[in-house]
Amino acid sequence: MSAENAQAQIELHRKLAPRYQERYAHAFSRVFEEDWHAEILSHVPKDGGKICDLGCGTGLFLADIQRRDPSAVGIDISLDMLLVGRETMTDANLVAGNAERLPVRSGAFGAVVCKGSLHHARDHVGFVENCRRVLAPGGVLVMSEPCNDNPLIRMARRLLYRQSEHFDEGDEGFRQKRLLALYEEGGFEIVQVKKYGFFAYALCGFPDHVGILKYVPGNAWIARLLIRADRFLCTIPGLRILAFQVVVTGRPRADLPRP
Ligand SMILES: C[S@@+](CC[C@H](N)C(=O)[O-])C[C@H]1O[C@@H](n2cnc3c(N)ncnc32)[C@H](O)[C@@H]1O
Repeated sequence: MSAENAQAQIELHRKLAPRYQERYAHAFSRVFEEDWHAEILSHVPKDGGKICDLGCGTGLFLADIQRRDPSAVGIDISLDMLLVGRETMTDANLVAGNAERLPVRSGAFGAVVCKGSLHHARDHVGFVENCRRVLAPGGVLVMSEPCNDNPLIRMARRLLYRQSEHFDEGDEGFRQKRLLALYEEGGFEIVQVKKYGFFAYALCGFPDHVGILKYVPGNAWIARLLIRADRFLCTIPGLRILAFQVVVTGRPRADLPRP
């Protein structure tokens, strides 16, 4: 990551931190986030060592992770995002740090999970290599990233990232193939690839952008129905490539030295 991008991300997330409070303040958005978190955590072996949430933001995912691993650590480049988390998570292990120069000893974690942080970096391979460095042998890296396999989503994201002040114009979504290549270039073997998120993602995931469900009675139940529909759609070959996110699980290659 260039120093300019690190600074740009810090400034961008200074503006976004209050929006994340709004994003996660609704019953329906929390129902959706819990499902998304459960999906990511389902790829982390139980009792597999300490978990690191890299790019933890305001810590909503970290709070769910802590129910499984109270010693879990959240790392983020934005102090402003971490400070929002600190308001409610008084005992959490929250650390300010850049994913490309992690202030953590090698082999410290049994799992690194990232929910939407890689696409903010510029040196994507460096980011993934750092994840490999801090993983213990046999550890796992699970990333959920915006997926650009759907041409309509790809165009909409490109427009949004260029035009909206809520994104940095250098941020980019990945096609699944590119994300898998980044894992491989970073020294990982792929364990599993899963698509995630259609209607629940679009309608419940970002109430600070798409707020329609805020005004609908019973919205938490609607969120549960949409999540079921999304999970069904993700089982259909040919349709699932159109999903908004891809969840990739990898393990450090045993035949390569640790970076
Ligand atoms: C889309 S937000 C997601 C936050 C959180 N994972 C969530 O789901 O609410 C991306 C997060 O990645 C962080 N980030 C961006 N670049 C980073 C880097 N190089 N190192 C660590 N964190 C970074 C941002 O500050 C931001 O909190």
